[in-house]
Amino acid sequence: MIAHRGEILHFLADPDRVQEPLCYEYFPDGLLVIKDGVVQSLSDASQAITKLDPKTEVIEHKNSLIMPGFVDTHIHFPQTEIIAAYGEQLLQWLDKYTFPTERKFEDKAYARNIAEKFLNELLRAGTTTALVFGTVHKQSVEAFFEACEQRNLRMIAGKVMMDRNAPDYLTDCPESSYQDSKSLIEKWHNRGRLRYAVTPRFSPTSSYEQLQKAGQLMREYPDIYMHTHLSENLDEVAWVKELFPDCDNYLATYDRAGLLGRRSVFAHCIHLCDSEWQRMVDTHSGIAFCPTSNLFLGSGLFNLSRAVENNINVGMGTDVGGGTSFSILQTLNEAYKVVQLRGQTVSILKMFYLATLGGAKTLDLDDKIGNFEVGKEADLVVLDKHSTPLMELRLNEHNDLLEQLFVLSMLGDDRTVKQTWSAGTKVHDRDQ
Ligand code: GUN
Ligand code: ZN
Repeated sequence: MIAHRGEILHFLADPDRVQEPLCYEYFPDGLLVIKDGVVQSLSDASQAITKLDPKTEVIEHKNSLIMPGFVDTHIHFPQTEIIAAYGEQLLQWLDKYTFPTERKFEDKAYARNIAEKFLNELLRAGTTTALVFGTVHKQSVEAFFEACEQRNLRMIAGKVMMDRNAPDYLTDCPESSYQDSKSLIEKWHNRGRLRYAVTPRFSPTSSYEQLQKAGQLMREYPDIYMHTHLSENLDEVAWVKELFPDCDNYLATYDRAGLLGRRSVFAHCIHLCDSEWQRMVDTHSGIAFCPTSNLFLGSGLFNLSRAVENNINVGMGTDVGGGTSFSILQTLNEAYKVVQLRGQTVSILKMFYLATLGGAKTLDLDDKIGNFEVGKEADLVVLDKHSTPLMELRLNEHNDLLEQLFVLSMLGDDRTVKQTWSAGTKVHDRDQ
């Protein structure tokens, strides 16, 4: 048994649905007790410490805030090495940087090496769960899941399905993509903490037949995920209109294949029309909000208020390598600015909810991760409030919780993440 003692914050509900202070719990001096990788109790340390099993190792965290591990609802592991590529918007960026890089993942040894580096970056950023794109190559996802299994991480991933409008070296066909996905599902879905997501890249790179095959997998395995891109860039939206003249809108290209639902996550959703918004609501589909990517690729400004008004599940996505940081703190920073540019507001509590329990809910994993309720998997991050001289100057005993959180999100990054723990085991230590 291990117990973490320090300042602890976690969410019990969406701050936009359940009023303060019922939506969260905050312990200025808390004790989080973990047994066999699972939360056993969370309470004020002063009382709990006296009743603790004497064999428990107590770890004290000073000048820190302990929170549930961050959740990244959209990221590409094979794009780790093309993060920060200059000069293009989505469609040209794919051709110039993304496709040539993804070609390398045909080689499983290469994929394994990048998977390790990718997981190191995620954990350095305090992210303990992510919904992850592989490449078209089955072995890329094999390599990724093997690396996750070794570290006992809770991750969701899938092989990209793409059978057109991409270089020959990077395309599959409807039947092979179905078979490859199926064998990956059989091997990896629900194995330990791993889950599978059927992953058509986006409608422009899938034929009608391939999207139907993706839908067939969703029917054959009712508890798997679906992960794709939707309405990110205006040229992309126009292209989809050309490619699918019989569909009323972009979302309909997925809808008619049966790809919408509770475990379907659509990255971006910037340029949705009214009927697409309504269909997202009706099918309980989720959205990955990826502000660093949307700004970097010049894609547009996500309408967070509209998603909130419609009670759509939203999580934060880094979208590396379109996104420019693995850090969910940095992603919150840019989210705040997108919301400002839209003339909207987002509460500080909501930002950190989106980064934790909101992300878990979007991934339909809120019964397992996202907060410190008894029985949840003990994935947590220790944030250092003195991680830089500037942060130390800005944060002192006069700041209340909300102000501290806001400064952590505006000034924080991987330097702020002192430790990351997964299922009760330390998986990252900044100072070692
Ligand atoms: N749309 C289709 N593929 C991609 C991708 O790799 N990244 C982003 N951001 N959008 C996409
Ligand atoms: Zn993406």
